[in-house]
Amino acid sequence: MENSRIWFDGAITGYIEVKVPLLTHSLQYGTGIFEGIRAYDAGGKPAIFRLDEHVERFMRSAGIYRMHLRFSREEIRQGIIDVVRENGYGACYIRPFAFFNDDSISLQTKGKKVSVAVVAVPYDNYFGEKFSKGVSCKVSGWRRINSDILPIQAKASGNYLNSVAAIGEADASGFDEAILLSKNGYIAEGPGENIFLVKNGKLLTPGLESDILFGITRFSLIEMARKMGIEVIERQIHRDELYTCDEAFFCGTAAEVTPIVNVDGIAVGNGKPGQLTEKIGKAFMDIVAGKSKEYAHWLTFVG
Ligand SMILES: Cc1ncc(COP(=O)(O)O)c(C=O)c1O
Repeated sequence: MENSRIWFDGAITGYIEVKVPLLTHSLQYGTGIFEGIRAYDAGGKPAIFRLDEHVERFMRSAGIYRMHLRFSREEIRQGIIDVVRENGYGACYIRPFAFFNDDSISLQTKGKKVSVAVVAVPYDNYFGEKFSKGVSCKVSGWRRINSDILPIQAKASGNYLNSVAAIGEADASGFDEAILLSKNGYIAEGPGENIFLVKNGKLLTPGLESDILFGITRFSLIEMARKMGIEVIERQIHRDELYTCDEAFFCGTAAEVTPIVNVDGIAVGNGKPGQLTEKIGKAFMDIVAGKSKEYAHWLTFVG
């Protein structure tokens, strides 16, 4: 990391060159906004998955918190490409973030300086070997935050305290990951992933009314699955459907497509990654690796 190159407020610089004061507003109050993006090795060249959609969500997250970014959509997009190129990475995880770079105690953000950074790190599987073997999950005692409380479509740092609380609880109980319920008690999502269930060959996934982040991987998989002739139903899903479905999986930039094999100690299906999960996961990994002409427009190649 020490030697890596980052983009900071409009210029490429060294990771360790940037110093942030301890009382920085976003460090104290969780007022950063960020994105998680992946670049993949697509036939020897790095390719960024759905770059424009991620940049768009980044701009919207900033807008929700009235953060005035001094950089345009195009400048940030180019900063992301430059960071991947400068570091010579193939596959990597890219973290653009914006924060109130102002060290005062006041909660007020009006007029505070906003800095924008893009950092990238080489990255493999979020769940390690469980990426293919599948994860065990605990339905969390914590409910997912919802739009009555915070704007959940903003990918804001503070939102992730809800995720961290759920992960800590699941981990302390011996599970790999948490599943959070919505305020109405339906399945919402994982702490950093959307969720799909498979029942009778159809895909079920919670919709926006279940307090989910509208994930880019989620809507990519929905489009792919429908084109593969698989029916996808977006609806509220009861907790006990987790115990009676045939298969389940998480999806997200970090998690990609990760099978869920056990929930609350109850096997999902036969307790192994399901066939449809594996089919969709393989199709997704082929797309990000640049093997599909049909979805080539989802990739931005870094030359
Ligand atoms: C809470 C939450 N839900 C879902 C997702 C999946 O979204 P995406 O596919 O855009 O990465 C993420 C990751 O960004 C997340 O943090």
